[in-house]
Amino acid sequence: MSAPLLEVHPGPEMAAAAARSLVGIMLRAVRLRGTAHLALSGGSTPRALFRLLATEEWQARAPWAHCHIWWADERCVAPDHHESNYGAAYSLLLSHLPVQHVHRMRGEVEDPGAAARSYEAELRHVFNLGPMGRPRFDLILLGIGADGHTASLFPGTPALDERRALVTTGWAPVAPHRRLTLTLPVLNRAAEVIFLVSGTDKGPALAQVFATHPAHPPLPAALVRPTRGRVRWLLDAPPP
Ligand code: 6PG
Repeated sequence: MSAPLLEVHPGPEMAAAAARSLVGIMLRAVRLRGTAHLALSGGSTPRALFRLLATEEWQARAPWAHCHIWWADERCVAPDHHESNYGAAYSLLLSHLPVQHVHRMRGEVEDPGAAARSYEAELRHVFNLGPMGRPRFDLILLGIGADGHTASLFPGTPALDERRALVTTGWAPVAPHRRLTLTLPVLNRAAEVIFLVSGTDKGPALAQVFATHPAHPPLPAALVRPTRGRVRWLLDAPPP
């Protein structure tokens, strides 16, 4: 388990640094295994990255036709709802690319538990996993909330303690409350996790994540420590 890396890339440089990393990781995975698996997050911070990757200059740099696009979490809304993580990624990025393998979480399904189970089944099928297997993503893009949540793993919620399921339901203190999320065991099986962080309101949570003696219980984002992988924190301003 390597120590988290923290990098500061002011303003638009953060999206460019993330884009370079994403393209490098995707190219390497496709070269080695013929495919790459990338999981996206929602929220506002990844949008600059999505817009950049959709530009003519960047479109052809990544082997999108060989990439499987997944989500780290989703809000339980329809894909065309303004709060949909899929909807944002589709309009800003995927609709501009030759992607062929898009695996969205079905936030519109009435029973979130059923949606979580069907996404888990899709993961097990595409990654060709046995009953106890866990998918190893080449890259998972995450964010952090001011409360230290990541994906839709919120402090003090049952989703944070889930250790068997690959996907579970989450509950957010802000609307849309009902969520779907990858679980910690899946996040901690990734080859690479990149946190994209913007906004000074994340300062106190970041201070806790990087504290020598973090408060107990640790914040959800602090629990993302891949056992055979790397975590990088890309910030657009120095931490407090
Ligand atoms: C979501 C996200 C969530 C997000 C953080 C940070 O669906 O909301 O996946 O975990 O990454 O809330 O959001 P911002 O980037 O908007 O600060």
